[in-house]
Parts: sequence; C-alpha cells; structure tokens
Amino acid sequence: MTARSIFILFVLLRLTGQAAAQTAMVNPVARSKQSLNGTWQVIIDPNNTGEWLKVWQERKPEKKTDFFEYGFDNGPMLRVPGDFNSQLPELTYFEGTVWYKRTFNHTPTDKRLFLYFEGVNYLADVYLNGVKLGSHEGGFTPFQFDITSQVKAGENALVVKTNNQRQLSGLPSFGFDWLNFGGITRNVWLIETPATYVDDYTVQLKKGSLKIIAATVQLKGPQAAGSEVRLNIPELRIRKKITADANGYAYMEFPAQVQPWSPAAPKLYQVVLETSAEAVTDTIGFRCIETKAGQVWLNTHPIFLKGVNIHEENPYTGARAATAADDSVLLRAAKDLGCNLVRLAHYPHNEQTIRLAERMGLLVWDELPIYQHINFSDAAVPVKMETMLKEMIRRDKNRCGVVIWSLSNETYPSTPGRNKALIELTAACCALDSTRLVTHVTNTQQYAGNVVTVTDTLYHFADLICVNEYIGWYVPWQGNPADTKWRLAFGDKPVMISEFGGEALYGQRKEPEDMAASWSEAYQAEIYRKQLAMFENIPHLAGVCPWILFDYKSPGRMHPVYQKGYNRKGLLSEKGERKQAWQVMKNYYGKR
Ligand code: GCU
Repeated sequence: MTARSIFILFVLLRLTGQAAAQTAMVNPVARSKQSLNGTWQVIIDPNNTGEWLKVWQERKPEKKTDFFEYGFDNGPMLRVPGDFNSQLPELTYFEGTVWYKRTFNHTPTDKRLFLYFEGVNYLADVYLNGVKLGSHEGGFTPFQFDITSQVKAGENALVVKTNNQRQLSGLPSFGFDWLNFGGITRNVWLIETPATYVDDYTVQLKKGSLKIIAATVQLKGPQAAGSEVRLNIPELRIRKKITADANGYAYMEFPAQVQPWSPAAPKLYQVVLETSAEAVTDTIGFRCIETKAGQVWLNTHPIFLKGVNIHEENPYTGARAATAADDSVLLRAAKDLGCNLVRLAHYPHNEQTIRLAERMGLLVWDELPIYQHINFSDAAVPVKMETMLKEMIRRDKNRCGVVIWSLSNETYPSTPGRNKALIELTAACCALDSTRLVTHVTNTQQYAGNVVTVTDTLYHFADLICVNEYIGWYVPWQGNPADTKWRLAFGDKPVMISEFGGEALYGQRKEPEDMAASWSEAYQAEIYRKQLAMFENIPHLAGVCPWILFDYKSPGRMHPVYQKGYNRKGLLSEKGERKQAWQVMKNYYGKR
C-alpha cells in the first residue's frame, strides 16, 4: 500500500469516524478534568433499530410530513457510572443496545481536550454533535478520543451506543458464569491537557532491585521531542530531569532508598512528573515480586498468598461495582477474612479498586477476560487479546499492589490455536512488563484415584502454576484428602490453588446436611476443611484463593430454591452473612 493510499485511508477513516479509540493516557484522575458522570438520557434499543435510524443525528421534524420514531427527550434516564441491568427491572438480563446521551458546555482554550471512558461493556460507538468519533471493543479497560478539533464552543451533544451482546469472537465469548452487566459502567471524564502532554509513564523499581528506580515517560504533542521532563519524589528528596528523545520518550534509572511496599506496611510515595506545561502527580509504591526456590518472594521474604476471588459486583446492590464505596465493600470484606491478596475475576476491575487495594495493603491479581470458550481460530481474537493486554498493563503498571498478570482462565487445550495464542500472549506480556508474575489459570488437571496430575503446557511459560479445582463439589473425593498426591511436572515452580469451594445457601440446614444437594452450610464447610487438609501435601504451594468472597449474580444458576440466579459459592451471602465455611478460612489464614 503506497504512502498516498495509506493517507487517503486515514482521512477516510477519520471522516467516516471509523477510527478506533485511542489508547488511554495514564492516571486520568490526576489531570485537569470535568466529570461527565450523572444521569444520562437513554434509548433502549433491543432490535438495534437506532443504527438504521441514525439516532445520533437527533433529527427533528421540520416539514408537516416529517416524523422520527425515536427520541432521547422524555425517555428513561440512567446513572453513569453504572450498569444498565440493575437500574431498570426490564433490563435485568438485557443483552443488546442502549444509547446514552448527555450534553456538556465547552469554553474554547488553547488546551487539548479528551473524552475519556474508564470502561464501557462491551462495545462502544461514540458520537459528538452527530459525528462518529470512533469505537472501542472490550468491557474492562479505558479508552479515549482527542476531541480538540471536534468540540465546539457552547453546548455539545455526546451520544454513546453501548452493546453488551455476547459474541463468539468476544473476550469473553458466549459462555461465562457472571451477569453480563452492560452499559457505561465506569467513570467518564473530559480531560484538558497542554498541547504537549504526559501521555504515559512507568515509575517502578527496576526488576530484581530494591534500590534502583527505573522510570520511563512518553510525551505526546508538537513539542514532545527534546522537551525537558522532571521527576520528583519529594519524600525521598529525589529530583531528576531528563530530555525526551526525538519520539518524546525519556528513560532514567536512579538509586533510591525506598521503604518497600508490603501488605503489612503499604507505603506509597508522591511522585510528580513535570514538563514546562504541566505537572502530573501520582501515588506510587515500590516493591519487588519474584519467584525463587519454589516460593513467591515479596521484597526480601517469601510470602504465602492468602487470596480470595471477587467479581466486580456490590453484593448489597446487585450492581456492577462502580463507586469507591462499592469497591470498599469488597476489599474490606477481603481484609476481614484475613486476606493479603484479591484475585480480580475474571477481567480488569476499575482503576480505583486497584488504587484502594494498594492503600489497604492488598496484593492484586489482575486478569484478562480470556475465559473458557474462546474462538482462537478467528484471526481477530489474538489481536483483541493483545490490545486488551496492552490496555490493562498500560493502566495498571504503576500500581505496586498488582503482582500477577493472569492471561486466561480455564481455556481448553483441545481448542485449535489455544496454546499458540496463549504462549505468544505470555511473551507479549513479559515484553511489556517483566517485573510481575505471569500466569494462566487452568482446570486441565487429571484425576486418577487419589492422585492429581498437572501437565498443561502453558506452565512451561508461566511463573506460577494456577489450578482451579473443585474436589468435594464438582469432583467427588477420591480418597482421604490428607493423602491426596499432587504431581506437577514443572520443577519447583510455585503453585496456587486459584479456585476451590462449593455452594451453600446461607442458613440452609436442611437434613441430611451431608449431601451436596442440600446446599447446606455444613456441607460447604466440610469441603473447605478437607481442602485445607489436602493443601498440606501440595508441593511448592505458594497460595490459595477460595471461590468466592460473596454470592454473586449469574444467570446460569437457576435452582428455584437454592440459587435464584445466584452462584452460591460465596463464603458470604449477598447480604454479607458469614457462612460456616467463612470461619474455616478465617481460622486458616489466621494461622498461616
Ligand atoms: C470456574 C470458573 C468460575 C466459575 C466457577 C464455578 O472455575 O473459573 O468463573 O464461577 O468455576 O463453577 O462456580
């Protein structure tokens, strides 16, 4: 393709608004910003008719014969941020298109203006004043549009088409065990920056060091090349400056006497990145995470990962967690259980959750929604996987609490292309960030008598072996749990049991309690006691992570008495009631 044809294609894409959204700048909350949160007008569009009617143009009748079968005015309103399923009863299990609209006023300045979305599930098409800006796919990572040249003085109309329909080549694909919360589920910002601005940066300890900080800064804009960048960490009396190269990129390393971050001492430092035109402030912790001698080491000591799984759902509201208060409910309950880690199942949760976790001293397991049935044979899928990987790492790479990048959950080795795609994704992850542990979660272990054998080829390329096993629930015990043998053919790689447990309905004491089908608390608690006994035999066990902290919504859980649309594997009910198994885990973590 000649340069001329590439240019023509680019112009056409811009004109037709088919451009993809931009990769989001890091640390939006530190920027000069205006929130676009609040109540937005919506059109609920199950037949996707709005696409054909071009609702974003908001045409109004002019001639006597004109009419339009849509309108935002006098229609329903929805809260942003927030999933649409939990806001209107008719939307509980809705999977389709919901159009959102709001206006905002703008006063022209010499600044750049960005429209920044922290997350929209699953597809987003964004229009400003009737013109399409572009689209984004993926429900759990941020994206932005530079609207400097499109925004007008005075009132602007912003329309967002959201669609959460599951797709064969989506990430996740058709089948997943949680409620498919759709819509503008996370914060929306208008962000002002100087013409040349700090687009991206990394400030973390250099791999394997507790005494050297490595920092990269990427400027964007007409003055990026050759600009001076200053990096200050006031509490450490560190003031560095460096000149960005011809691409606006700057890299520096320097010694620093930091107090390492840890769950017991979650020390964070103010870090300021300055140019002649702006100062971007972040709070950043410094720690080293690595595996050695069959253990996970944090800073200078081995650590046992006392984890728990959480979905991004406030159990009390039954809505996607969208506010700091929602996030705090989940993380406080994890701390109450005695955890030092939360596994953010099965997708990147919102950024404020991860920032809160590191303030609370919780390690974070960040995960991509490459879940179970993935259509690896579609050439577009590995591209989407890598895009989401880049979006997740770019957003969270300065969060010291994040120690694990998990790139998949329970995919099937029999799926054509699965191993190749995930091995390549692992390499891409390590190239983007070599300072954290990389893993894949599998349930491909084999059971033969009282022996469990793990052979999944992905573990030749991962730092951690992470196994989901439900012995005592989906798989009956094959013998005495204390005698169960685990065979792992991966040297001394540390092992995590990333999911285990079973279901119970809080308060269920139906006799006989010793049957799975009773959904009794006693049966669930017994599963936990036997699991803990088995854990003693697992070589290089570096951590465990029960599934799951709270009962949570899942349309596939349909038992009319015990489930009613909830997965009941929670240690807590959706009302926060502690099941007997909660105490079993609390005691175990208290002794570890
Ligand atoms: C799987 C899966 C979870 C699911 C759980 C269950 O391991 O990873 O997402 O909810 O099992 O069956 O409850």
